[in-house]
Amino acid sequence: MNEINPKKLLEAAAHVMEKAYAPYSKFRVGAALMTEDGAIVTGCNVENSSFGLTNCAERTAVFSAIASGKMKFTAIAIVADGNQKPYPCGACRQVLAEFCPPDLPVFVASKGNLSTFEHSTLGELLPKTFRL
Ligand code: THU
Repeated sequence: MNEINPKKLLEAAAHVMEKAYAPYSKFRVGAALMTEDGAIVTGCNVENSSFGLTNCAERTAVFSAIASGKMKFTAIAIVADGNQKPYPCGACRQVLAEFCPPDLPVFVASKGNLSTFEHSTLGELLPKTFRL
């Protein structure tokens, strides 16, 4: 398996965060997935004037990866504007659980302080996951 480099992944998330479309919340989020073959796939949040149609950064990254034929992930990093550490919302945790194991490392950091990231696992964030 490829070595997971949290700093590199967080930097990719911070980079794509700049592309976020968030005119309503003004809260930009970027996510970067490390794929099993060592590639990085990124996504940002995309809001809509019909607010419920907003897509979070994490799901944008997962859907983009699936569309490019990548389905196995070894880590995710999430970065948000300002000083907020953006833990993934419940919907994104469930979507990640469809494709990722419970021991998936989840790194979160604020754009203002990338080096003090927090590390948890998907299983900690979504215990007793619903599965069919
Ligand atoms: N958001 C994400 O991109 N990821 C999350 O896990 C939580 C929230 C976005 C959605 C919306 O554009 C903005 O943050 C405020 O909720």
